[in-house]
Amino acid sequence: MCGIIGYTGKGNAQKIMLDALELLEYRGYDSAGIALLKEGQTQIVKRAGRVKDLRNLCAEVKPEGTCGIGHTRWATHGGVCDENAHPHRFGRITLIHNGIIENYRELTEKYALEGALVSETDSEVVAAVLEHFYAGDPYSAIRRTVLKLKGTFALAIMFDDQPDKIYAVRNVSPIVAAVTKDGAVLSSDVAAIVPFTADYFVMPEFHVVCLSPGGVEMFDLSGDKAPIDWQKVDWDVSRGGKGGYPFYMEKEIMEQPQVIRETILPRIKDGRPDFTAEGIPDEILAACKRICVIACGTAMHAGLVGKSLIQAMIGIHVDVVMASEFMYNDPVVDKDTLVIAISQSGETIDTLEALKFARKCGSPSISIVNVKGASIARASEHVIYTCAGPEIAVASTKAYTTQLAVLYLITARMAVARGLWSGEKVTEFIEELQRVPQVMERVLEDKEEIHRLAGTILNARDVFMIGRGLDYSILLEGSLKLKEVSYIHSEAYASGELKHGTIALITEDTPVIAVVTQDKLKSKELSNIREVQSRGARVVLLIKEHETMDEGGEWSCVYRLPQMADAFMVMPASVVLQLIAYFVSLDKGLDVDKPRNLAKVVTVE
Ligand code: M6R
Repeated sequence: MCGIIGYTGKGNAQKIMLDALELLEYRGYDSAGIALLKEGQTQIVKRAGRVKDLRNLCAEVKPEGTCGIGHTRWATHGGVCDENAHPHRFGRITLIHNGIIENYRELTEKYALEGALVSETDSEVVAAVLEHFYAGDPYSAIRRTVLKLKGTFALAIMFDDQPDKIYAVRNVSPIVAAVTKDGAVLSSDVAAIVPFTADYFVMPEFHVVCLSPGGVEMFDLSGDKAPIDWQKVDWDVSRGGKGGYPFYMEKEIMEQPQVIRETILPRIKDGRPDFTAEGIPDEILAACKRICVIACGTAMHAGLVGKSLIQAMIGIHVDVVMASEFMYNDPVVDKDTLVIAISQSGETIDTLEALKFARKCGSPSISIVNVKGASIARASEHVIYTCAGPEIAVASTKAYTTQLAVLYLITARMAVARGLWSGEKVTEFIEELQRVPQVMERVLEDKEEIHRLAGTILNARDVFMIGRGLDYSILLEGSLKLKEVSYIHSEAYASGELKHGTIALITEDTPVIAVVTQDKLKSKELSNIREVQSRGARVVLLIKEHETMDEGGEWSCVYRLPQMADAFMVMPASVVLQLIAYFVSLDKGLDVDKPRNLAKVVTVE
């Protein structure tokens, strides 16, 4: 949470900061600010609100300089107000921070800061401690300060008397850095680096990086120069921006056929799933006695689909655990448990901590991550990257379906590694997986029809989504999507559970979205739909094309999903649910890409 940017060089730092903050705004958008350092003077411009508000303020204040830091905030300590916006300044120190300093109260007391601080933030306390230790040597002050901090931090710091220099240090919270044609830049993620260069590096924890117009240097905490491990951004930069769509969410939904192809095709060799490039040995898939998936939010919902697939096709037990609860439920994982961590950003703190714990318990691990070099990828024994490309909308769409695509590949490779499937069965499964992009394209062609379906729930206060088995798993995700972007209260319910209490809430004002894609569950699911219809609910039904509904009755809102094998129906159905959520948000006139209170990357517990 929070986006940070730092730049020093020959360019106009104000413009560079503001442009970068726009690209990073999805990480947090409560307030924003920049600080520019020029001839020993530091000028800070900051305010509550969006980056566009900051841009307006800068147009009045006109801060100048070629060296600066900028921040877009998701509030943790201290409310949303101008004072709590970053950068923070204390004495000769100006800094921005992403993370949480857990011992900021102790530090406030220890360094007698009460009364001297102007904000309520933990971050300002760090600036004050740095000022306390600063005697002309930034490295020494940073080292001594960092040793006092408990918590997570990505810090970018300017010292008044260190012209044109930006220093950075981090623990857990990410920082990437790069050399530009006339200077150097750092950021929370590569989104803000891409406009400058394709070459970057991920800062290791507890190292100090110094940016100057001449480039970048890195030192470890004992002061020794450290080598830099350069990487290349492999995003197609031309795919940046909204591509003519009003919101990133729509663009990202539309990109799914392409990014699923890019995720699966390189991993299919001679018609079989293949993880040779990832260096994943078959033994890890063959030997495990159970699987534990750890993830949050949408990524966890992808894990639930993976559970159904693996249990049904491989016959081993799979637990899907919310990473935020993992540590508090006395987790039982061991060397026989394959841990699969799923995360778009690769930075979700709960998932990262759960993964680290599992590794300490001796569990083999594979992570499914979208962002190259992210912390979860690095903390994991093996990593399979989804090739979704940058996902900017806070609501996850293409990351989810590419995570699903990887889970299909894992299931198939596991079946091969365990000798469970005939060659014919493998071919059949992989061919069906390869059909997913074209099936999704068919759904996307029906965008306007789905827009009309979305209209039927536009004014609802509550929506229920019902289904069984795999249908229930994808509805959990469909419901999260609707809640987060439209602010309509919605609940996914296993349809067999309705009669155990929840059906009391069904009235004619409660639309119900029902998904029926599994042959073995069809008749039970249809009966459950009848039960809610009898209580007056209007039902939006997603069902396979050619499916008969012998039970008769009125079906005012039906969407016919293109046919796939049952195990793959989650793919077309998910696209419909994403589009419904999107169109409801759009038609309500909401900020689809930046729903209230949220941030794209959750780096606080
Ligand atoms: O980056 P991650 O995949 O680890 O993020 C996990 C969740 O925060 C994320 O999936 C969240 O639920 C989505 N923004 C929902 O659309």
